[in-house]
Amino acid sequence: MVNKNKVIINTDVEKGTINKNIYGHFSEHLGRCVYEGFWVGEDSNIPHTNGIRNDVVEALKKIDIPVLRWPGGCFADEYHWKDGVGPRENRKRMVNTNWGGVVENNHFGTHEFMMLCDMLETEPYICGNVGSGTVQEMSEWVEYMTFDGESPMANWRKENGREDAWKLKYFGVGNENWGCGGNMRPEYYADLYRRYQTYVKNFGDNKVYKIAGGANVDDYNWTEVLMREAAQYMDGYSIHYYTVPGDFWEGKGFALDSSESEWFMTLKKALHMDELITKHSKIMDKYDPEKRIGMIVDEWGTWFEVEPGTNPGFLYQQNTIRDALVAGLHFHIFHDHSDRVQMANIAQTVNVLQAMILTEGEKMILTPTYHVFEMFKVHQDATKLDIHVEAENYTLNGEELPAVSASASRDKNGKLNISLCNLNHKEESTVKLQLRGLADKVGSVTGRVLTADETNAHNTFENPENVKPQSFENFTVENDELTVTLPAMSVAVLTIG
Ligand code: AHR
Repeated sequence: MVNKNKVIINTDVEKGTINKNIYGHFSEHLGRCVYEGFWVGEDSNIPHTNGIRNDVVEALKKIDIPVLRWPGGCFADEYHWKDGVGPRENRKRMVNTNWGGVVENNHFGTHEFMMLCDMLETEPYICGNVGSGTVQEMSEWVEYMTFDGESPMANWRKENGREDAWKLKYFGVGNENWGCGGNMRPEYYADLYRRYQTYVKNFGDNKVYKIAGGANVDDYNWTEVLMREAAQYMDGYSIHYYTVPGDFWEGKGFALDSSESEWFMTLKKALHMDELITKHSKIMDKYDPEKRIGMIVDEWGTWFEVEPGTNPGFLYQQNTIRDALVAGLHFHIFHDHSDRVQMANIAQTVNVLQAMILTEGEKMILTPTYHVFEMFKVHQDATKLDIHVEAENYTLNGEELPAVSASASRDKNGKLNISLCNLNHKEESTVKLQLRGLADKVGSVTGRVLTADETNAHNTFENPENVKPQSFENFTVENDELTVTLPAMSVAVLTIG
C-alpha cells in the first residue's frame, strides 16, 4: 500500500502560544458531578479535606487543570449565590429543576468552590445568573468575592470565615441565554449583557475578564448580533457544541455502543467543531480584527444517552476509547485556532457527560478521556509549530474522514511534542513525519500511546486499568524523518529532545 499519511512540521516556524486554558474544565450542579464527585461533606467516611474528596483532587492535580467553570450550565441561571454562603445547616434548600428535580441543599457554594480551586491550583471561572437573577445580585457576588475593604458584601464574606478577598479573573454573564438561560432573542440578551456587565466591577487590582454568553452550535446570527451590539464590553465570547452521534432528541446513541457506524459518526461530528469555530471566528473577525476577544468554548464533549438504569436527569455516561479520540481531535482543532480560542472547558469533570473521573461510593476510576488530558498537558502554554497534514481517507459506507490528525508544539525546555490520532477503527496508520528546520539532528524520541482492541473499550470499577497509556516505540528515525506506525484507534504523543 502506498503510504499517504505525511506530516510536515516546520520546527522553525512558530504559530503563537497554545493557551493552557484550552485544557479547562466545567463542573455543574448536575447529577453526581459536584455532590459525590467533589463534595462528600465533612461527615463522610470517604477520605476528604474539609468535605472535598482527596482521591479526585489528587487525580485531577496530575492533569494540571488550568481553569474550572462553575456552577453551570443551565443551573447558573437558576442559582442564587446568597443561598450558598454562611453556616451550612442554615442554607436554603432549592429544587434543581433542570437536572432531575432533586433537592439542592446549597452545601457547596462560593467558599467551597474557591477552596476546591485552591486545592486544584486552578483558576476559578464563575458563571453568573442573568436568566432569573438581578443586576444587583450579580454585582454583589463580585463584590463579595473580590472587594478587599469595608463594604456590606466584603464584611459578610469576613463574617463567613474568609478574611481576604479572592482573586477572580473569569466571569460569565449568563449561560445559554438563547435556551435554559431565559429563551432570549440575541438583541434582547445583547442589551442585558451590556447592562449586567456594567456592574461587574474591578475592585482593587482584581481585573475581571468578562465572558458573554454565545451561540448555540451554528447560530451565526447570535454571534453577529452580539458582536455588533456588545463587542466593546466583552473580553470573551462563548460557544457550545456537543458531539452527539445520533439525533439529540430522537436518540443520541450510547457510550458503550460498539458499532463501526457509531464510531465513524461520532468522529465525524467531533470534527465539525472545526467548521463551527472557523465560521464564528469569521464573524468575530469582522468586529474584532485584532482578535482582542477570546472565543471561549466553555462546553464541549460527547453527549450520549445516560447509562441504562441511571437517573435520566443526571447525564451519567461511560467513557471509551472513542471519547479519547474525540478529546484528541478537539485539542488539535483548538490548537489550530489558538489565535482566537483562548479557553475551552470540557463538560463535565466528574460523573457527568464526557467525564475524566467516574465514582461509585468510595471507588474512583480514570477514564480514557482523563488519559488524553494527561498525555496532552505538554502542549499547555507551549509554542505551536507550523504543521501540514496530508492524510489518507478513512472510509465507511461511502463517507470519508482523514485517517490521521496531528499537532506539534515546543515546550519551554525546548522539547518538541507531537500528538497524533489514528481515527481508523480497524487499521493501523503509518505516518511519515518530516521535521524541517531543526538546528540539530533528531535527538532522543520517546512515546506513549492510548489504544484498545474494541471500539467500546473502557475502564470499570472491576477493571480500572483496561484502557491506559502504554509506552510506544513503533517508530524509526532517519535524518529528519520519523516513520510512525499508529495502532488502529489510537492517540499517541511523541517527545523529541
Ligand atoms: O452540560 C450540560 C448542559 O448542557 C448545560 O447545563 C447547558 O449549558 C448545556 O445545554
